[in-house]
Amino acid sequence: MRRKTRSCCFPSCRPPAGRWGLAALLALALLVLSGCGGGKEDSLRIGAALYTQDDTFISAMAQDLEGLVREAESETGKKITLFIADGKSSQSTQMDQVDRFLARGCDVLFVNLVDRTAAAVIADKAEAEGVPLVFFNRQPVAEDIQRWDGIYYVGADARESGELQGRLVLEAWQTDREALDRSGDGILQYVMLEGEPGHQDSLLRTEYSIKAVTDGGVEVEKLANETANWNRAQAAARTAQWLEEFGEGIEVIFSNNDDMALGAIDALADTPRDRWPLIVGVDATAPALEAVAAGQLYGTVHNDGRGQAQAMIALALALWNGEDPAVELTDGHYVWLPYRQVTLENLEEFLER
Ligand code: BGC
Repeated sequence: MRRKTRSCCFPSCRPPAGRWGLAALLALALLVLSGCGGGKEDSLRIGAALYTQDDTFISAMAQDLEGLVREAESETGKKITLFIADGKSSQSTQMDQVDRFLARGCDVLFVNLVDRTAAAVIADKAEAEGVPLVFFNRQPVAEDIQRWDGIYYVGADARESGELQGRLVLEAWQTDREALDRSGDGILQYVMLEGEPGHQDSLLRTEYSIKAVTDGGVEVEKLANETANWNRAQAAARTAQWLEEFGEGIEVIFSNNDDMALGAIDALADTPRDRWPLIVGVDATAPALEAVAAGQLYGTVHNDGRGQAQAMIALALALWNGEDPAVELTDGHYVWLPYRQVTLENLEEFLER
């Protein structure tokens, strides 16, 4: 891999300025004599920047990363330090966090962008320091990923999740059309709860879920769509409005993720009715699996956050050791994890995880 090699010292090894004078020189001499080895050989430092920790899927991934780091430490016998920073949905905060990680001498960066268009700036900072960079969950455009050999993206194909979600609804229609087509007009009336505008998962899940249904020969009618920013409370508020406006006319609620599907369930639970619309989500978070078990959520699509975290740690270790990444790379930069449908039928398998 063509990657800039660092000069002897990591940024964190830089000699302290002025007042420590002699001590600094002695420390520097020791570092030079030891080939700067005190850092790199024994200890891997990873900086992980999250767009916000206040996101169910991302905070679960952060926990997975922490657990996997402990496992990797005991397997490799190496010390691995994982620094996690919460961007609190502010790109400028995340930029400062990335600068701090680089200044601390992190060996690898994991970045879950706040704003996907900020990727190029972060990529250039990492390249300037020769620090490999793994973007995850929020996918930068291809040109930004290809800026340097040391840039990777770990995620899942958003289009696939939309298709799988749409097929859940299509199969329900094909199996028991009468139950779904309450109005009996042969058309599937739906509302769509969308994730954050501009996020690849919002755009592609919205498009491909409906395409899967219409490709299956079912006519659809969109009653309403609105963003709820991946957020349960916002989704509950949108759904409450729609229930007032369309009442029993809503046959399906498509949701770009599980948290928003749970928001829709909250709104339905607040306004008791005989029949609920069919609701589908994406992620297979723990509370969503419970909702599937309770029969409130018809189905979801498993977004393998743990698998993504595993791939990121495997990449980090390989890059740090100067080995070929021990994961399957597409086009030299991408690691893709598959999605899977979850319904009552295979729920057990996911509950056991
Ligand atoms: C997940 C959402 C999450 C979003 C954050 C998506 O892949 O499905 O639940 O909020 O990523 O970027």
